[in-house]
Amino acid sequence: MSNEFVNQAPLIPLQSIELPDELGLKKEQGKVRDVFIVGEDIILLGATDRLSAFDRQVGLVPNRGQILTELSAWWFEKTKDIIPNHMLEVIDPNVMAVKKCERIGLEMIVRAHLTGSTSTSNWKRYQDGIRQFGLVTLPDGMKKNEILPYIIVDPTTKAAVGHDENMSQEEIINSGIVSSSEYDRLVGISRALFARGRRIADEAGLILVDTKYEFGRDLETNELVLIDEVHTPDSSRYWKKDTYDERLRNGQEQDIYDKEFVRLWLVYQGYKGEGPSPVIPDDIVTEARARYIYTYEQLTRSKFAPALGDRKQEIAANIRSWLANKHGR
Ligand SMILES: Nc1ncnc2c1ncn2[C@@H]1O[C@H](COP(=O)(O)OP(=O)(O)OP(=O)(O)O)[C@@H](O)[C@H]1O
Ligand SMILES: [Mg+2]
Repeated sequence: MSNEFVNQAPLIPLQSIELPDELGLKKEQGKVRDVFIVGEDIILLGATDRLSAFDRQVGLVPNRGQILTELSAWWFEKTKDIIPNHMLEVIDPNVMAVKKCERIGLEMIVRAHLTGSTSTSNWKRYQDGIRQFGLVTLPDGMKKNEILPYIIVDPTTKAAVGHDENMSQEEIINSGIVSSSEYDRLVGISRALFARGRRIADEAGLILVDTKYEFGRDLETNELVLIDEVHTPDSSRYWKKDTYDERLRNGQEQDIYDKEFVRLWLVYQGYKGEGPSPVIPDDIVTEARARYIYTYEQLTRSKFAPALGDRKQEIAANIRSWLANKHGR
């Protein structure tokens, strides 16, 4: 059997992370992550291969969870001089131990281009006639995917249930989610993170089009902390840089290296986020996986090494030994 054939062994996606009861960790399930609570101050973020779009799970892409975990870890290192982050340790290719923080109920969305396909995207809102985005007013006649005259910071409330909502600065401060000085700091930090991300992506032949940051407060010091994930192809849009101009000129879609690749496929099937989503065919899953890997490899300049073997077993084993060492320390 040739090596090529071996490499084509079926990839089994990680649907969920199950831990034996005896480990005694409470589980909370997000759309993508299985979160395990370790005492008062630590949580384990286990990224599965579940892919969410339109606020629901729409499919599974093998190795996605590992890529999200490892890329986040990479970006946390690259941005820790701008703001402290929650990362303690990657304890398994799919699992990061993080400092538990008081979550700030905002998603800080930062955008450099007019794009998107969901109702909260600036392109859809622009098409609906909206011109005011935060403090920025856009001119008429802009095309999809065009670069914006200014970087827009567009905070959205992180809804406990249902769709997230756009909010003005005044509404956010009046709602008491953050103080006005904290708001200003979050905007400043988001801009600095985004500038760093754009530069590094550019050097890797990619455009960081937009992204979302989540912040928390350190439970001991109350300091602001970058939490969740950062600059992953789930929380961000990436396009290929060298084909950008030509595609924009020709009115073509961009060459997409993030979750939007699958989201757009759903949109092309006529799906708008209502009811059950169409089943994503194998060739789209394969291509999505290849694109996630491409993004990882371009950015980190290293070969992606998929974790092989029985992931469910290994994750449980890695968590078990991490817990044992932690208590031994
Ligand atoms: N350091 C942290 N402290 C507390 N909560 C965190 C921290 N980092 C991430 N989280 C939360 O953990 C969850 C991660 O799960 P996941 O990414 O699957 O959620 P999601 O699909 O984005 O959104 P939802 O929270 O609506 O399920 C998110 O709710 C995120 O806000
Ligand atoms: Mg998330």
